[in-house]
Amino acid sequence: QLPCSVKELSEAAGVPAVQILRILMDEGVMTNINAQMDPELTEFIAAELGVDVDFLQPETLEDRVLMRLEEIEDPEESLVARAPVVTFLGHVDHGKTSLLDRLIGIDVAGGESGGITQHIRAYRIENNGRPMAFVDTPGHEAFTEMRARGAGVTDIVVLVVAADDGVMPQTEEAISHAKAAGVPIIVALNKIDLPGVDPLRAMTDLNTNGLQPSEWGGDTEIVKTSATTGEGLDELLETILTVAELNEYVANPDRAAIGTCLESQQDADRGVVTKVLVQNGTLKVGDIVVCGDAYGRVKAMLDPLSPRTRLEEAGPSVPVNLTGLDIAPSAGARLYVLDDIAEAREIAETRGKSQHNEYLGATGFRQTTLDTLFE
Ligand code: GTP
Ligand code: MG
Repeated sequence: QLPCSVKELSEAAGVPAVQILRILMDEGVMTNINAQMDPELTEFIAAELGVDVDFLQPETLEDRVLMRLEEIEDPEESLVARAPVVTFLGHVDHGKTSLLDRLIGIDVAGGESGGITQHIRAYRIENNGRPMAFVDTPGHEAFTEMRARGAGVTDIVVLVVAADDGVMPQTEEAISHAKAAGVPIIVALNKIDLPGVDPLRAMTDLNTNGLQPSEWGGDTEIVKTSATTGEGLDELLETILTVAELNEYVANPDRAAIGTCLESQQDADRGVVTKVLVQNGTLKVGDIVVCGDAYGRVKAMLDPLSPRTRLEEAGPSVPVNLTGLDIAPSAGARLYVLDDIAEAREIAETRGKSQHNEYLGATGFRQTTLDTLFE
């Protein structure tokens, strides 16, 4: 619901604006005809005037431009296979980063402060010529939002459960995120190398949480892994590929890109760096983009795995670290490519304003609400 000015209400109701100002004055509010009133106050005034108000939501630029982009259907013949997006979720310290490191052949876990993941990360790799995208999420309870976001952009969830610890609170949370997103779950029963671990206990826990192991006749693949010894890693990759093959992931690389901001921050040297997962279309250097309340032209796109590699374009399921946005958009914001920088700016700025709830009148009066009225 948008605020409405005294002037607009007077025109819509066919009553002189002074009459409205007088009602406001009787309630102790001295204001002018440009003051913005919230819907509640507008209704109150309308009742005083004895008129019925109908709120018509004007079509915003955002509705006109972005919603339409979202609604464009890709013709069947434009769709080509895209890489599956595979997100690692699970309780803190259960081995998500270590497993992913080992799968990709990098060492992120070793460099993390306190051994705790605090950022969501996305990588693109090729496995025997087949591209795949992996997303690592933090398991610490403080990062629910990032786990939800990871589950929101993914095709497949790898639920990492340490065999010695079993199902823990963030394991359960991850299961509910994955279920809410409606994506298949593969369990990596990790740390199987630890002496004396009893995988049966964790499997029983998983079973109680609605993930029936396939070896017990259910439909959840549970792979016993060790990020330390490498045991089960091949089988985990196989299982991911099998699940990916059961589903057809397609996108249209020939349209303007749509993506999601995974995380964004202000970097002292490079300005705003935004981690984006392109989900449809192809994002190109120079594209005009709007993402949440940020906008700009894509200045550079870097491969998250080798930050010195600049990409000229990024197609579906490709994660990039992008520069060129004016401010850091909030995580989870959708990214769209537009034709017109002025339009992008207007959408971003309108969103920025409504986010901060600054309904200022043309003369700078603060928004008048029922609360200020009866203070
Ligand atoms: P957060 O991202 O903070 O939630 O943790 P994580 O799930 O990414 O766990 P991480 O990979 O950081 O591993 C946590 C600790 O467990 C580290 O000390 C790892 O070396 C250790 N670890 C991970 N996988 C294994 C494993 O398979 N076996 C053994 N013995 N230790 C492991
Ligand atoms: Mg981690």
